[in-house]
Amino acid sequence: MSLVIDAKVVQNKQIIPGHYRITLATPYCTEKARPGQFLHVRCGSTQDPLLRRPISIHAVDPQAGEVSLLYRVAGRGTALLAEYRVGDMVSIFGPLGRGFTLPKGDGKVCVVSGGIGIAPLYFLLQKLAGLGIFATVFQGVATAKQILIEDEIRELGHSVVVATDDGTKGFHGTVTSLFEDFLRGGGLVSKPGINEDGLVSCIFTCGPPAMMKRLSEIAAQQGAYCEVSLEERMGCGVGACLSCACKIKDGSGWFHYRRACVEGPVFPAGEVFWE
Ligand SMILES: Cc1cc2nc3c(=O)[nH]c(=O)nc-3n(C[C@H](O)[C@H](O)[C@H](O)COP(=O)(O)OP(=O)(O)OC[C@H]3O[C@@H](n4cnc5c(N)ncnc54)[C@H](O)[C@@H]3O)c2cc1C
Ligand code: FES
Repeated sequence: MSLVIDAKVVQNKQIIPGHYRITLATPYCTEKARPGQFLHVRCGSTQDPLLRRPISIHAVDPQAGEVSLLYRVAGRGTALLAEYRVGDMVSIFGPLGRGFTLPKGDGKVCVVSGGIGIAPLYFLLQKLAGLGIFATVFQGVATAKQILIEDEIRELGHSVVVATDDGTKGFHGTVTSLFEDFLRGGGLVSKPGINEDGLVSCIFTCGPPAMMKRLSEIAAQQGAYCEVSLEERMGCGVGACLSCACKIKDGSGWFHYRRACVEGPVFPAGEVFWE
């Protein structure tokens, strides 16, 4: 069940320019949240902006009863969120949406992010580490200064490779090119897809639509199962306003609309009608 909760700010810190991590005391969300789900956040204390803003659940600390959100200041709402101080109360609504499918078995798991897309994937990586599943994480950013939480991901036991558009660190090029290089080296092995034990070889991704589209194509070529988190613009967050409609294949070569806030934001990549 999703609840509207006033959560106390435990921390709200800039981690790289324009990117903040806010930690909220909310034992309820800590208990209920699944990787890939999001909170609908009231960013200001007035009616402006009127609508809540969807932000993915980035990390969960069950012992402390705290949930963190990692966000990029994109406009008025997120700029107001950056002004919250320790002890302030933030109205959150959630957890909302359908999250990632947790893999079972001992197949290879790859996580591919673009920019702030790493935000929801870190919670997934926390859960995977708890299950004893260690992933290879491909993080794509424009430039080295925008790399996010690399050390924290390594501390969970996962490996991280970075791609920068300008070549200032790691692979010089897009994260999808880096991932293709990895595959050429035989990186994604074992039986792909889903068997009766669950997923055995899979890719999870979040980032710009063009990146996720390309990754979906690569996954299809490999016969690997892939899930994407579609960050459509949202209004209500509960399936009523249809502002988050996204195109999902209908089985006849065409598409029907699905609401990213309730049927997503995570979808199997092979079901998305990419344009
Ligand atoms: C399910 C979901 C999870 C999300 N998780 C995160 C997260 O973990 N961290 C994070 O930083 N952001 C996340 N976002 C995006 C975040 O919701 C927007 O950046 C935020 O709503 C912008 O609000 P604003 O008032 O600051 O900016 P606005 O003034 O509303 O918009 C500023 C600019 O950002 C663009 N924009 C707004 N929303 C989106 C969107 N959904 N996709 C692409 N462009 C958008 C607008 O077109 C405009 O150009 C998520 C979005 C969704 C739907
Ligand atoms: S945001 Fe209103 S239906 Fe999805």
